[in-house]
Amino acid sequence: MKVIALGCDHAGFDLMQEVISYLQDNNIEFKNFGTYDKQSCDYPVFAGRVARSVLSGECERGVLICGTGIGITIAANRYKGIRAANCANVFMAKACREHNDANILGMGGRVIGTGTAIEILKAFLETEFSQGERHIRRINEMDDMENIEK
Ligand code: RB5
Repeated sequence: MKVIALGCDHAGFDLMQEVISYLQDNNIEFKNFGTYDKQSCDYPVFAGRVARSVLSGECERGVLICGTGIGITIAANRYKGIRAANCANVFMAKACREHNDANILGMGGRVIGTGTAIEILKAFLETEFSQGERHIRRINEMDDMENIEK
């Protein structure tokens, strides 16, 4: 596993510390794009930093955490080529890798507990894209949608 990009807002800060501990304990390299304390801040800033890092290839995948996981994944998905999935259980984390080739995991610091979050993180990091023909086709269809004039 290459480097993991991390980003959160104030509402995701505590859970992100648990994610960082897990990555350190398991010798998984990461780059922390903030936020770095619990002062109120704007989640799109951190979503943008992580999305750009994944798109540039500096980091292989990303983890984004806000209060619900919703705003920060919506923001990341504004970037072409980002497939950010907000997951609340292990089934979703596995499926977003196998079916959607998600490159960013979103989680809600106010939604799930630490134990569940770490199981979700493990599933996201350890599950590979299935390479199924129908899944590739659907991802290509989504990529095409990015180019349609709105
Ligand atoms: C911050 O209060 C909260 O709105 C944010 O963390 C997130 O849940 C937004 O989707």
